[in-house]
Amino acid sequence: MKWPEKVTIKEVGPRDGLQNEKVIIPTESKIEWIDQLSDTGLSYIEATSFVHPKWIPQLSDASLVAKGIRRNPTITYAALVPNERGLEAALEGKIDEISVFMSSSETHNLKNINKSISDTLPILKKVIQAAANSGKSVRGYVSTVFGCPYEGEVTMDQVFRVCDQLFDYGISEVSLGDTIGVASPKQVASFLEGAVKRYDSERIALHFHDTRGMALANVLQALEHGVVTFDSSLGGLGGCPYAPGASGNVATDDLVHMLHNMGIQTGINQDKLIKAASTMQTFLEKPLPSHQMAVYNAQ
Ligand code: HMG
Ligand code: MG
Repeated sequence: MKWPEKVTIKEVGPRDGLQNEKVIIPTESKIEWIDQLSDTGLSYIEATSFVHPKWIPQLSDASLVAKGIRRNPTITYAALVPNERGLEAALEGKIDEISVFMSSSETHNLKNINKSISDTLPILKKVIQAAANSGKSVRGYVSTVFGCPYEGEVTMDQVFRVCDQLFDYGISEVSLGDTIGVASPKQVASFLEGAVKRYDSERIALHFHDTRGMALANVLQALEHGVVTFDSSLGGLGGCPYAPGASGNVATDDLVHMLHNMGIQTGINQDKLIKAASTMQTFLEKPLPSHQMAVYNAQ
């Protein structure tokens, strides 16, 4: 196996990480943390989410965060957007890249965004096209790719149906979500054999939650299939409040540790990353669940 020389890590901690925390972090602390993340060498940070504040109160300060963070011109700052109302706010907040999201399974889509898949698609089509007209690239998240908390098994056809539509509307990349961390390396391999042929590995990112401790094994499997873009959350924070049992994303610090030890570059400084994770531990007043932070906290 020839490993890639470089992998792109998309930090989703300020969005996926904080949306699932019971404690609401004050806006100034979020801004301080994101500013610290901006100094770690990351090239992509999903900073917040312009969803309905009733649904995700933890991120109800999206506009203040977008406007308050220091922008490093080498970094793409992205945000989650569910509809045109969210897009308007994201554009006003000068977000660089828009992330639309939906599920491949009907029940999770309904619980998460209050609509059927067929009612969601035309809404996202409008968002994607309006974002493009404003000169913004759009990334599409597809959730429950490897299993749904409500329906169990999800077929590849269900996933492809949604991805095909989103690519057709103009997304530049699809982020395939293992929302509840049920994927096994074998399942990832058989899924990617089909997906890479259909969409090309350059347009695929993987978004593994580590609920069952399988995320790094799944990353390795994806690397073997030529995928070089991964979403992760510093310290292993994260989860979807509308997916029972969903816990944190693969931890950025664990992912960087593994990749660097394999001689794969990420451009990220591990010491600065750990420092930023330790800042978030102080804000949340609890240890973060990653392996690297367990090592750090034991010192
Ligand atoms: P809805 O209640 O069906 O919305 O929510 P609606 O269109 O019927 O509008 C109802 C009211 O909400 C209206 O106000 C709208 O203006 C307002 P009214 O006229 O009654 O006064 N409204 C908004 N307000 C602020 N911002 C907005 C907005 N949109 C409408 N953007 C909606 C539909 C999609 C908005 C709601 O269900 C929602 O916000 N859901 C978000 C759920 C969420 O954020 N989940 C977590 C993220 S997804 C995830 O974690 C998975 C991922 O990580 C990948 C993976 O792991 O698989 C991405
Ligand atoms: Mg997620």
